[in-house]
Amino acid sequence: MLNKLRLWKNQNNSSILRDKIEEIKKSPIPEHVAIIMDGNGRWAKKRALPRIAGHHEGMKVVRKTTMLANDLGIKTLTLYAFSTENWKRPKNEVDYIMKLPEEFLGTFLPELIENNVQVKMMGYKNQLPEHTLRAIEKAMKETKNNDGLVLNFALNYGSRAEIVDAVKQVLNDCQNGKLKESELTEQIFSSYLMTAEFPDPDLLIRTSGEIRLSNFMLWQLAYSEFWFTDVLWPDFSEEHLLEAVEVYQKRQRRFGGI
Ligand code: IPE
Ligand code: IPE
Ligand code: MG
Repeated sequence: MLNKLRLWKNQNNSSILRDKIEEIKKSPIPEHVAIIMDGNGRWAKKRALPRIAGHHEGMKVVRKTTMLANDLGIKTLTLYAFSTENWKRPKNEVDYIMKLPEEFLGTFLPELIENNVQVKMMGYKNQLPEHTLRAIEKAMKETKNNDGLVLNFALNYGSRAEIVDAVKQVLNDCQNGKLKESELTEQIFSSYLMTAEFPDPDLLIRTSGEIRLSNFMLWQLAYSEFWFTDVLWPDFSEEHLLEAVEVYQKRQRRFGGI
């Protein structure tokens, strides 16, 4: 009886979700959504669990969020998974986080392939443990011919370092004659960033109640719409993503015009 009731409730919930998705799809969908997935540690603390339990729970939310983003027709989903500053954390936590890509992709890669998702990564690869990089590169290789949602992990990513590196490459190209200083535009500069192949995010989401960027896509977010929520990342649900997109659809973007 209880099981039947549960089944009925699930089906009913998912049909409500379906209707909502269809309704939202009638208005323009943000092409590129970026998410600062924050609050895993606090989620665990509230339950007297170790912080890594929060990261594990957060991984499941990545799956749900990816599937819904794909259903909605979002083209790129960039997820901030680890910042260049996160190395400051205790070694056991960092080690655990560096194992998550293997665990996530080990479990969900077939589903991502089946759903035509392309896996990408932006960030400094050199400092990543070999096993972490191997898992991501395998996923990138196996999904490279897919043309659905791009699931872009920002892993060991830091925006200031990214900008400084772009400046260095620009100077280098000016010295070796590939680029003339007079030809440098905002658009050309963007092509030196790790996001060269993506449009700027239309919508930025940050969970956990912190209202800051924490060194995330400083250049790219210049005209993005921001949506903040107190919900901790492991509690982030399909409904929250739909709410963020609905709010986005009601915003009036002016880009400095009237
Ligand atoms: C976000 O959750 C995940 C990473 C930064 C890797 P946190 O681990 O920052 O969780 P809080 O902010 O401490 O709750
Ligand atoms: C930002 O969260 C980085 C990621 C979500 C990966 P942090 O938890 O590191 O940010 P701060 O330290 O609160 O600014
Ligand atoms: Mg945090």
